[in-house]
Amino acid sequence: MTLAPTPPMGWNSWNMFGATVNAEVIKQTADSFLSSGLKDAGYEYIIIDDIWHGGRGPDGKLFPDKQKFPEGMKAVADYIHARGLKFGMYSDAGPLTCGGRPASQDNEEIDASTFAEWEIDYLKYDWCHAEDTRANAEYRYKRMAEALRATRRDIVFSICEWGHHSPWRWGERVGGNLWRTTGDIGDSWKDVHNNWGILYGIESIGFEQQRGLESYAGPGHWNDPDMLVVGLRGTSREIFGAGCTDTEYRTHFSLWSLLAAPLMIGCDIANMDAATCEILTNEEVIALNQDPLGKQGWRACRHGQTEIWKKPLAEGGLGVAFFNRGEKQQTVRAHWSDLEISGRYTIRDLWAHQDQGTSDTEFKADVAPHGCAVLKLQPA
Ligand code: GLA
Repeated sequence: MTLAPTPPMGWNSWNMFGATVNAEVIKQTADSFLSSGLKDAGYEYIIIDDIWHGGRGPDGKLFPDKQKFPEGMKAVADYIHARGLKFGMYSDAGPLTCGGRPASQDNEEIDASTFAEWEIDYLKYDWCHAEDTRANAEYRYKRMAEALRATRRDIVFSICEWGHHSPWRWGERVGGNLWRTTGDIGDSWKDVHNNWGILYGIESIGFEQQRGLESYAGPGHWNDPDMLVVGLRGTSREIFGAGCTDTEYRTHFSLWSLLAAPLMIGCDIANMDAATCEILTNEEVIALNQDPLGKQGWRACRHGQTEIWKKPLAEGGLGVAFFNRGEKQQTVRAHWSDLEISGRYTIRDLWAHQDQGTSDTEFKADVAPHGCAVLKLQPA
């Protein structure tokens, strides 16, 4: 069985809650997966990121913060599993996590077995405080992948070394199912600089930093351009950025879908607004992301500040997105030669949820600033 045959879909605590994550938040989130339609739309993992820790006990085992998780982690897992969802956790390949909590370096085997006792289905494995060389990255990620495999539980392994040592070249070989390709995302269209460093905007991560990586993605092994910021609207307790417009969040979601990226929601879904829910549950766009062929899309061409991206789909279909990175509305026109296709195709607009007829030459659409049009082409 291939783990993660399509890009993993779920929710991670970090982008919204950071250090304030606790059992109540996780339970509310699990309930909201069901009530908001996210589960029906295909989201399944609920992942607790950094700063869940109490410490490491005299028996050598990690234990959670008793204030935040009074009933322990197995109870959280049970709550999630009882709702037909899957449970993920976080550790780090160095001696400490990014948030300064005890991590798994040289404790890989005992930590993997603790996580398996808690019945996790997914592990995000970070890179803070580890010796930052390619040899150590391959060694540490392989050692944890092997420790997870030895537990005999199916655990998706998410490598988070920020692209420092080109994990797309070795991540699959050492047992990773996905690997971060960049530093952290901010809740912003443009990069956010501050005292702490930089958080990358949607534009630089999505349009620039994934280019050329498409050949490394496929069923069971995905490039990960970091989690979604859709719906945060500048309210994150942890990451910076003043938030984005609905148009920008829609573009972010569309681009991540075209990129066959993991769709890890980061906002507070128990309190999300209607526009956020509508974006996150657009099943036609999600279907591009989850297409079984597992191809990562790429930029087919650009004209000024507009770009046309394509993603080959199973059964001869094609996902096509028109993006406008400029500040004024533009008409974007794709000739079939731009897309390297010929013949007659039916065209469907996946945000308008409308068929747009057929063509054997071209398609055009008006696209708002920072906006997109997402289409599915199917041989007629
Ligand atoms: C790193 C990761 C983030 C998050 C934090 C937690 O910055 O890249 O995604 O997990 O650590 O401290």
